[in-house]
Amino acid sequence: MATERTLSIIKPDATEGNHIGDILAMIEKAGLKIVAMKMTHLSKAEAEGFYAVHAERPFFGELVQFMTRSPVVVSVLEGENAVAKYREVMGATNPAEADEGTIRKAFAKDIGENSVHGSDSLENAAKEIAFFFPTTAVL
Ligand code: CMP
Repeated sequence: MATERTLSIIKPDATEGNHIGDILAMIEKAGLKIVAMKMTHLSKAEAEGFYAVHAERPFFGELVQFMTRSPVVVSVLEGENAVAKYREVMGATNPAEADEGTIRKAFAKDIGENSVHGSDSLENAAKEIAFFFPTTAVL
């Protein structure tokens, strides 16, 4: 087991629905430590840059439009196996498949508006943390 850092985004559907506090509480109750955090309204260029890996996907335009619709809360989470742990706390990408007790089961509407983002690997976590918090150390 290793201490890791991962990137979390509380997305526009969740900030619009006043779920920021509930989601942060679920993160902390799962034993993950919030070590950096900011609320920001992403520009089109920032959303396109963050999701550049999905640029060729048919849903890219919709994704960028959604992510720039309202403010988001971006944070760095630290803990044992934080990448996998946070993915468990979030639940499946498609909320219809998410387990009871997960963030997406509780708050997400559909696969597009799915309330939260979490890094999918340690390598991507490092890139994503550097994207939003260039001065925060990556473990
Ligand atoms: P996220 O984990 O932030 O990474 C990429 C995002 O693209 C994903 O969550 C969803 O919000 C979105 N996404 C993935 N698949 C689809 C889809 N089929 N239709 C619309 N949006 C999608």
